[in-house]
Amino acid sequence: MTWIDLGNPSPRVDFSVWQPVEWDAHIVELLAVPFDLNLPRFHEVVTSRRSQRSFGTLTSNQLAYFLWLTCRITTSGTDCLGFPITQRPTPSAGAIHPIHILIENERSVWSRYVPESHGLAQIDQASSLLRDLCRKVREVLDPQLGTTLLFVAEPGKTASKYDYAASLVWRDAGILIGHMALVAESLRLNFCPLGITGEPWASELNEQGKLVGVGVALLGSKPVF
Ligand SMILES: Cc1cc2nc3c(=O)[nH]c(=O)nc-3n(C[C@H](O)[C@H](O)[C@H](O)COP(=O)(O)O)c2cc1C
Repeated sequence: MTWIDLGNPSPRVDFSVWQPVEWDAHIVELLAVPFDLNLPRFHEVVTSRRSQRSFGTLTSNQLAYFLWLTCRITTSGTDCLGFPITQRPTPSAGAIHPIHILIENERSVWSRYVPESHGLAQIDQASSLLRDLCRKVREVLDPQLGTTLLFVAEPGKTASKYDYAASLVWRDAGILIGHMALVAESLRLNFCPLGITGEPWASELNEQGKLVGVGVALLGSKPVF
């Protein structure tokens, strides 16, 4: 194996101002906020968590609760990098959270999770741009009735604050996926990370080259056999 040295990240002397990707701001659906959570204890979750490879349909509340516990914004801070730094359930280098969560529904329509409003915004061109990705996912592991999650990074956000930022973005992706695995287990959902990155299709979502795929995972309910 050739190990690719991504360099040693360090904060830049002068921060730059990043112009974030402009997504369609139209909110298709505001998601439910959990009010009736009855979760197993943390040590039970950690002990029982396993990657699962069978996927039933997710209810809207199951998806909403999963996203609330993994990706919502709890606190916003300064926007001197060109976008607000935020705190969410997971750690992120510089509180930058450069990874967008894209979700395919049962009608093959892709939406982006909008963490500011805990909602889903449809991405109009994604169905055609990501068709071959869906084929690739099925080659690796059949989503069955479950939902495909695509992790799309905007590395320029992290690079606006750090030199040699690439490994920070990859570590943010790993943290997010590991946290999601625990949250899925606690919500009694089935979850499996995939080794594919989503490339070369994810980067097609932005003509200016600001986006790159950093992972895929499958999520579903526990199917009834
Ligand atoms: C980065 C990463 C990539 C993975 N890729 C796949 C994959 O492509 N297909 C799959 O079935 N499982 C995949 N897995 C799940 C692992 O196979 C699984 O975590 C491992 O067998 C240990 O089982 P456990 O998660 O139940 O502890 C992946 C896990 C990680 C962390």
